[in-house]
Amino acid sequence: MNRIEAIFSFIDEKDKVVDVGCDQAKLSKLLLTRNQCSIASDISEKVIKKAKESIKDDRIDFRVSNGLEKINKDEVDTLVLSGMGTHTIIEILSNTKIKFKKIITISNNYHDILREKMNTFGYIVSEEQIIKENNKYYNLILFVPGNKNYSESELLIGLNHKDIDLYKEYLEYLSNKYKIIKKTSEDKNKKVDKMLEIIDKKLKTV
Ligand SMILES: C[S@@+](CC[C@H](N)C(=O)[O-])C[C@H]1O[C@@H](n2cnc3c(N)ncnc32)[C@H](O)[C@@H]1O
Repeated sequence: MNRIEAIFSFIDEKDKVVDVGCDQAKLSKLLLTRNQCSIASDISEKVIKKAKESIKDDRIDFRVSNGLEKINKDEVDTLVLSGMGTHTIIEILSNTKIKFKKIITISNNYHDILREKMNTFGYIVSEEQIIKENNKYYNLILFVPGNKNYSESELLIGLNHKDIDLYKEYLEYLSNKYKIIKKTSEDKNKKVDKMLEIIDKKLKTV
């Protein structure tokens, strides 16, 4: 399963979807296979022009928009933010008053900061899934409305993972990565030690 198929698997037919940062609008295209309309938006005029020309289907509502600026609250209840960094995701959510029933993210970095910050916006982790595409791991997170006190381990390596085999493989990859960092770095790094402790503890239970 690739990233776009994984996102699709978290979307129900009745969901009113906006894919922010849609690029080639692959998700909206996949939604069309079950006749589901969606909004595909991107900050880049050039990107939207290209996507519109290649798909040519008026069931996709293409918009040029910085984050959710050009999206109205009644049009959507499900937000997809995939292929951007945590800080961009946080900025987009800081600048909207829209409340979503579901937010699906695939951030490139700082998943611990994302989980923590989403809590302050009123969203908690419902489920997570590791995806492996072109030999790279991606962390999909499904957020739903709520409030939660996370443990340090939950913030750092996530919770409620679907596809436990791939999650285990990802943890083993992380464990090796941090072991190499520890071996090659001259200074004692407390964060690396903490990560290794948490990952190795988790690996004994999954
Ligand atoms: C790497 S692509 C990800 C494409 C697709 N969502 C995916 O996961 O494969 C990131 C896209 O996000 C768009 N983008 C970056 N910042 C944005 C913002 N603030 N608002 C809307 N789109 C943004 C970029 O123009 C680019 O097309």
